[in-house]
Amino acid sequence: MKISNRLQQIEKMVISQYDHIWDCCCDHGLLGFALLSSQANSKVHFVDIVAELMADVEKKLERFYPNSVWKTHCLDVAKLPLTQYKGKHLIIIAGVGGDLMIKFIEAIHQQHKNLNIDFLLCPVHHQFSLRQKLIKLDFTLKDEVLIEENRRFYEILLVSSLSEKLDESLDKKHNKISAVGNKIWQSTSSKQAEVVDKYLQKTISHYQRIQQGSLQATLKSKENNVQHIIDAYRAIKR
Ligand SMILES: C[S@@+](CC[C@H](N)C(=O)[O-])C[C@H]1O[C@@H](n2cnc3c(N)ncnc32)[C@H](O)[C@@H]1O
Repeated sequence: MKISNRLQQIEKMVISQYDHIWDCCCDHGLLGFALLSSQANSKVHFVDIVAELMADVEKKLERFYPNSVWKTHCLDVAKLPLTQYKGKHLIIIAGVGGDLMIKFIEAIHQQHKNLNIDFLLCPVHHQFSLRQKLIKLDFTLKDEVLIEENRRFYEILLVSSLSEKLDESLDKKHNKISAVGNKIWQSTSSKQAEVVDKYLQKTISHYQRIQQGSLQATLKSKENNVQHIIDAYRAIKR
C-alpha cells in the first residue's frame, strides 16, 4: 500500500526495537500497516475513536495481515491501556493538532509516570506549544526532522519520557528539546535548505500576524503577546 512521504518519514524514524507500537489516531491504518511489514517483532496497536474506521481497519488486518501481531482499539488516545501490555512502548501520534496532542501526552504521562515511553509526534500546527509542554514534562529528544509535503511543513519529533533525572548516564544519547527546534534547521542539501528557509519564513510571518492582531486589540493579554516566540525563531542560526 502506498503511503505519503510524511508517513514514510515517520516509519523510517522507528529504529529501536519496541514490544508495542501504538499507531494513535490511525484513521485508515496506513502507517500501522506499513509498520507491520517493517517491524515484524513488535505488536502494532491501531487506535482511533471512530468505531466505523476501526471496524474497517480490523477487516483489512484480518484479510491482509492474518499472520502478523496486531490489535485494534476503538478508544480515546488519552486512555491507552499501556499497563496491560508488558515491555517497551512507542506511541505514535500524527495528523492531529499540537493542542490535542498536548492533551493526549499530558494524560498518558499522568497515568504512566514510571514507564519509559518513546513518542513519535507529527503535529499539525502548534509546534511551539507542543515543544514547550515536552520541555516542561522533562522529556528528552532522540531525533527531529522537518519535511514539506503538498506545500505544508511538518516537524516530526522522536522524544522519550525518560527524564535525565532518572538516569544521568543517558545524557549523551538523550538531548534537550529546544523550544524552536535544533537539528530541523540544519540542511544537508540545497533542496532541504530551501525547505528550511521557507518554513522559517512562514513560521515568523505567522507569529508576526498574531502579534500585530494582539497589538491592535485594546485589551492586551499576556497570552496574546508572542514577541518572545518571534525573537526565538529569529535567533535561529543555520
Ligand atoms: C487526520 S487523521 C490522522 C491520520 C494519520 N495518523 C495521519 O497522520 O495521516 C486524524 C484521526 O484522529 C482521530 N481522533 C481524533 N480524536 C481522537 C481521540 N481523542 N482519540 C483517538 N482518535 C482520535 C480521528 O478519528 C481521525 O481518524
